[in-house]
Amino acid sequence: MAGLSCRDHSNQNNIDDNIDRKWWKEAVVYQIYPRSYMDSNGDGIGDLKGIISKLDYIKSLGVNVVWLNPIYSSPNDDNGYDVSDYRNIMQDFGTMADFDELLKGLHQRGIKLVMDLVVNHSSDEHEWFKQSRSSRTNPYRDYYHWWNADRGKPNPRYSLFDVNHDAWMYDAKTNAYYLHYFSRKQPDLNWENPKLRKEVFDIMKFWADKGIDGFRLDAFQFAAKDTTFPAFPPGYEKEFSKYYAMGPHLHDYLEEMNREVLSKYDVMSVAEGAGNSFKDAHDLVDSDRHELNMAYAFEGVDIAKPEGYSVLHFKQVFSKWDSVFAEKGWLSIFLANHDQARMVSRFGNDNPQFRDISSKMLTTFIMTMRGTPYYYNGDELGMTNAGFTDIKDYRDVSVLNEYKHQQNIGADMQAFMKRTEFSARDNGRTPFQWNASANAGFTTGTPWINVNPNYKTINEEAEDKDPNSVLNYFRKIVKLRHDNRALVYGKYTLLDKNNPDTYAYTRELNGKKLLVTLNFRDHPAKVNTRLDIGKAKVLIGNYASPSTNGMLRPYEAVVYKVN
Ligand code: NOJ
Ligand code: CA
Repeated sequence: MAGLSCRDHSNQNNIDDNIDRKWWKEAVVYQIYPRSYMDSNGDGIGDLKGIISKLDYIKSLGVNVVWLNPIYSSPNDDNGYDVSDYRNIMQDFGTMADFDELLKGLHQRGIKLVMDLVVNHSSDEHEWFKQSRSSRTNPYRDYYHWWNADRGKPNPRYSLFDVNHDAWMYDAKTNAYYLHYFSRKQPDLNWENPKLRKEVFDIMKFWADKGIDGFRLDAFQFAAKDTTFPAFPPGYEKEFSKYYAMGPHLHDYLEEMNREVLSKYDVMSVAEGAGNSFKDAHDLVDSDRHELNMAYAFEGVDIAKPEGYSVLHFKQVFSKWDSVFAEKGWLSIFLANHDQARMVSRFGNDNPQFRDISSKMLTTFIMTMRGTPYYYNGDELGMTNAGFTDIKDYRDVSVLNEYKHQQNIGADMQAFMKRTEFSARDNGRTPFQWNASANAGFTTGTPWINVNPNYKTINEEAEDKDPNSVLNYFRKIVKLRHDNRALVYGKYTLLDKNNPDTYAYTRELNGKKLLVTLNFRDHPAKVNTRLDIGKAKVLIGNYASPSTNGMLRPYEAVVYKVN
């Protein structure tokens, strides 16, 4: 874990390497969805004590940053993305003492902690909103976006999670509408109000003073809005990001956040969403602008569709994003998170014959690209989509409300359920599969969401014992990344660009060159790299005897040292 031995390289450009080293560039981030990780008290809900009981496991992975989804007080309309008190821990998850113990336990193991910061909106049960909705003259009125009904109905705004997709909710108490881009219980905060901004910065300082190591800014590109709420053209709602992201003053807010908080601590920052263009993305993360460190671009993760996807498209998207950040700025690399269905079910092949090998291949991709890898819990086991077919099995507010919406508009419900089976977020939120005992060892009670029945074969205990498991492959490749700075900083070059089946690229730094070859298909495929693979040294491969001639078996992945 060489990268983490110095806390900050900000003023220590390594002259030998001529690279701008940073701990957050060298990190491998492991994302934990606390609700589904480990339940310590049998109430069926994962909690902080549960995570604490698994710290040695987390350490064994070799990851050095953990990103925790929100753990603040919340009525859980959207599983914690509706915060009712930013300085307290959700009762289901435990206490502040548990949090302190968790942070200490991570730090003792050399692992940093990044917290989710959900400040595009709060819960409607937050004290600010209770005050705000109580009267038009309440001092908290301007913490949110209100439109007095005396002015008529405001121009339409689209809500992602609302039953009617109407982002304006009428509130009789003050005869006004409030804005909510997500559910009705997630009113949008008004970032134009300096008092609100100060509150948020104070909250950030509260957590940074506790010693956390970073923030993931939830939905932050939507925080800045044109508060005259002009009309959008018909069909605008199909291009949500275009009309909602990167509103006026967003950069002012981020500069202020950087000045007031981020620059004062050794913390990393990552935004969900990277705007609508490469320029937007650069404006968020270029170090000379002093805003954020990284952003997630969704173009890559959005490629997989129920009908499949084109490998050429996949390569083109990831190569394009890499090239745009080759000289400046920094990216994050991911294929899944808690808002996506499972990586292997979307991008690989979850058929038992190929699940294991294709999981390893996708993991090889993530760990060998430039950019900080964000790896979602459970993917290290090759966990698959649950594929629930009954609406009663779903828990996600977005699915439940969309189901009602589709019913209301008389849609083909079978087709809706089919789409949902492939893409629902709940696919990635089923309990972590620890062992073959009841409920996968996640809980002694009734889990808040059903366990994937395949836990009897896919589970941590079994994979830990098997040297060839997805889990042990993950551990090896994380180590490989930590041991090879070229995999973090090295120049990326795409090879055999027009090959429709395989993905091959080199990563080069200071004369050291690594070659990555990946077969994305369930049949053999030849990759033509024009490099002498026969003479290269295999660093890792997902088959027992890795290919040495460019002929790759189904989903084969090999990383070589070329020179
Ligand atoms: C993005 C989060 O990742 C997602 O889970 C949540 O539903 C929305 N933002 C709203 O906070
Ligand atoms: Ca619990």
